[in-house]
Amino acid sequence: MGAGLIGRRHIQTILDMPGAAELVAVADPLGASAELKTGSAPWFADEREMLDRARPEAVVIATPNRLHLPHGIACCERGIHFLMEKPVTATLEEAETLVAAIRASGVRTLAGHHRRYLAAIQEAKAVIAKGSLGRLVAVSVVWATRKPDDYFKTAWRTQPGGGPLLINAIHEIDMLRHLCGEIVSVSGIKSNAMRGFAVEDSAVAMFRFANGCLGTLACTDAGFSPWTIEQGSGENPAFPHSAQSAYRLIGTEGSLELPVLRTWSAPVPGDIGWNRPIAATEAVPPYHDPYKAQLAHFQRLVRRDEPPVVSVADGARTLAATLAVTQSSDEERPRTPHRFP
Ligand SMILES: NC(=O)c1ccc[n+]([C@@H]2O[C@H](COP(=O)([O-])OP(=O)(O)OC[C@H]3O[C@@H](n4cnc5c(N)ncnc54)[C@H](O)[C@@H]3O)[C@@H](O)[C@H]2O)c1
Repeated sequence: MGAGLIGRRHIQTILDMPGAAELVAVADPLGASAELKTGSAPWFADEREMLDRARPEAVVIATPNRLHLPHGIACCERGIHFLMEKPVTATLEEAETLVAAIRASGVRTLAGHHRRYLAAIQEAKAVIAKGSLGRLVAVSVVWATRKPDDYFKTAWRTQPGGGPLLINAIHEIDMLRHLCGEIVSVSGIKSNAMRGFAVEDSAVAMFRFANGCLGTLACTDAGFSPWTIEQGSGENPAFPHSAQSAYRLIGTEGSLELPVLRTWSAPVPGDIGWNRPIAATEAVPPYHDPYKAQLAHFQRLVRRDEPPVVSVADGARTLAATLAVTQSSDEERPRTPHRFP
């Protein structure tokens, strides 16, 4: 459902993985376009007609944010499993309604936080779990790149909700929750000083995690830099590969840069101190297309072989922490993200 920018990538991923899924239908009111290959799958202008006639076993919902709630509910009503693109809904109230409908219907869901499938992130998670960094003390993240002026010809991208916090930083905040644990407090400031639109072009946030770790995130779509996880990892062919780190995770025993997977530790185990040597080891993570890994996982989730890597309820917690940056900035005080059970 939704064959726009990201929906097309999902369509191509499904077509590229015939062993994992079969594309049985596409729903988008814009209708079929000559340049978009969909195999033999029929197009529907009406998404409900598609659900009722094609009866898919599972759906990828890649429609505009404001339609995520009604489209998720339409799947729940029909017992159809779904992968919901991020943000899982446009608001927290909508997320509560959707999570309740999912629980009542028993459908299985996945939120589209595809970064969780990057090999570098999975390796980082294992390094942290093994205790190689000791206790996590602090983390710093940068997401900074300059979107071209014509990106903003689409009006909603200049309005609240269309900026780098909900479009881009939400993925980083999901990553922070994944790697460092639950976020219990958020302080944020945001600015529109570079472009002057109603929506922010830049934001900085501070986080307190439940385990005592502290974090910062600097995010802008108005600055030219090599420091985004997309550029660092090469996950997306649309971004030049910079091989630079966008994340620094600092622990009591060592530190880790991501997505380049550079670990800093004492050459002599336990010989730790501010005037002791520290050395780097770099592992080149194998490249996996995270969208393919996500689809393979979604297939196993639908077939009940695996619990979700990130359910819609979990995606709602990421949404709550992301919206807390805006709330904190507006109210000029720290915010506790809304708690989803
Ligand atoms: N995971 C990621 O990295 C990522 C990247 C981009 C976008 N997204 C998310 O994906 C969603 C779509 O974003 P996009 O950039 O592809 O937007 P888009 O505007 O390019 O595409 C949305 C598509 O949905 C279609 N649509 C509208 N109403 C519909 C309906 N009732 N039924 C079916 N289709 C309908 C539109 O015609 C359009 O083709 C958003 O929630 C966005 O946040 C996620």
